[in-house]
Amino acid sequence: MNEAKRERYLVTSALPYANGALHVGQIVGAYLPADIFVRYLRARGEDVVYICGTDEHGVPITLTAEREGKSPREVVDYWYAHIKNTFGRLGISFDNFSRTSTELHAKNTQLFYQKLKEGGYISEAESKQMYSPTEGRFLPDRYVEGTCPVCGYKEARGDQCDNCGSWYEAYELIEPHSKITGGPVEVRETTHLYLDLPKFSERLRNWISGQEHWRNSVKNFALGMIEGGLEKRPITRDILWGVPVPEPSFEDKRFYVWFDAPIGYVSSTQEWAEMVGEPDLWREYWQEPNAKLVHFVGKDNTVFHTVVWPAMLMGVAEDGDEPYILPYDVPANEFMNLEVVVDGERRAVQMSTSRNLAVWVHEALDRFPADPLRFYLASILPETADVVFSWREFQARVNSDLIGNLGNYINRTLSFTERYFGGEAPRPQELPEEVREVFEDFKEIEGRYEKRMLARRPREAFSELLALGRRANQFFDASAPWKSRKEDPEKTKTTLYACSALLGSIAYHAAPYVPEAIERLQEFFTGPIERISDLKLPEEYRVTGARPLFARIEDKEVAAAEEQLLRALRGEPEG
Ligand code: MF3
Ligand code: ZN
Repeated sequence: MNEAKRERYLVTSALPYANGALHVGQIVGAYLPADIFVRYLRARGEDVVYICGTDEHGVPITLTAEREGKSPREVVDYWYAHIKNTFGRLGISFDNFSRTSTELHAKNTQLFYQKLKEGGYISEAESKQMYSPTEGRFLPDRYVEGTCPVCGYKEARGDQCDNCGSWYEAYELIEPHSKITGGPVEVRETTHLYLDLPKFSERLRNWISGQEHWRNSVKNFALGMIEGGLEKRPITRDILWGVPVPEPSFEDKRFYVWFDAPIGYVSSTQEWAEMVGEPDLWREYWQEPNAKLVHFVGKDNTVFHTVVWPAMLMGVAEDGDEPYILPYDVPANEFMNLEVVVDGERRAVQMSTSRNLAVWVHEALDRFPADPLRFYLASILPETADVVFSWREFQARVNSDLIGNLGNYINRTLSFTERYFGGEAPRPQELPEEVREVFEDFKEIEGRYEKRMLARRPREAFSELLALGRRANQFFDASAPWKSRKEDPEKTKTTLYACSALLGSIAYHAAPYVPEAIERLQEFFTGPIERISDLKLPEEYRVTGARPLFARIEDKEVAAAEEQLLRALRGEPEG
């Protein structure tokens, strides 16, 4: 690798709430695309650190705890371990997977707050909030229920009515009561701290306008937010689970989860730097102007990562310390729906975690290995529009593209070399015309793949990977080594040498998508796993004990997975 060209990247995926299992919608939104991107950068020899962790504060977590009769700590400990384990099984290759309930993170959050305050970006204001006299505390909106002021629905939530969809303030509810105790609640005044976003409007607008490499949807959304006028945002809550606020009279309040969560990226990077034994190394990724900070997120997180978080970074950078860099890109992805087959008819439905109408990642991994799942999900990453997850499509894509195209090429090259040539493909004296041609075609496709991948579009790069497979299969067919092997063994050896070189390129480009298979491949295939564009022709390629890399997906496996979704759709218990 060319050291001079080495680029430094800090890549993050949105911190998932430690409040439930991961589903495939989250995976395609923020994790798989980031992991593919990061694996590709690492293979190129770039300097990249991939950071994540669980988001462990916020009201939904305290609600889960109260519902289950546990402490919030018990809830997040359980889900932290569960989520981390699931990511591991799926091959998501974080350099550090931290959590926001650490001491270090609390200190960082308070430090960010102090600096924003010193910069003049924090103010205090009173607001109306629901208070439960029997529980002796303020209740977050989600803890309050009552009758909808618009439609009269009796079980309306504190901030929104599930029946008519109206939004309102919790104190507008009729006969509001605590969701926990059922007791009455009343309106009281409470004081909160606010982040002065309007002060950043101008700077944000200028900065975002200059981001030519952002996705249009993301850029327009962020500019639209600013055009619409930013408001001061409360950064504290009446709740006891969260990072303490270092101000007198805020003892019974905590920072709002969306204030501390993105700071978690910094905390997790610092923890990583400690782990690798260079505690100051995190600064090279957060304060070095040449570093590229890339936040992969689902589209519902766009405003936080393009407006609020950059404002926080701008605001803390003014006290004479090294300034923080701003995000280089925020690849925000669209949503994923689910296909359910009802009486033979395919229907796309919205995922619903509360109804268990979701493809849970740990369950999918009980049914299938990680690679085919990653492969299928990569083929439908919602980079430009909403997509539909379909178990039948999963089967079709795996059996025809992964196995029929890539796997087939790899298999026939390896088994042919092993069976007829003792597993050896030595370098020929010179490369014949048709080999130089296929190499040229490969270089062109590799170039497109690289461009798309570096533009943070792993789904588009994926189609180039399939193009490599098709071109290689075409070369194999046209060379017909099964025919030439008797009449012209020398020519056949040359064919197989070329096939191995193409295989090395396919493996290089497939590795970010199906890493486990390519690792296994290297147990029986020796030779550079390298782009044709960078290849220095090796003396020989060797194959010993090759085995197929992928297993076909059978009808009955898919039928079982579909069954489960259908039961959830019909509200039947798990069978
Ligand atoms: N936990 C949030 C979610 O799942 C994402 C937090 S991203 C961070 O929607 F930047 F705040 F960390
Ligand atoms: Zn209503």
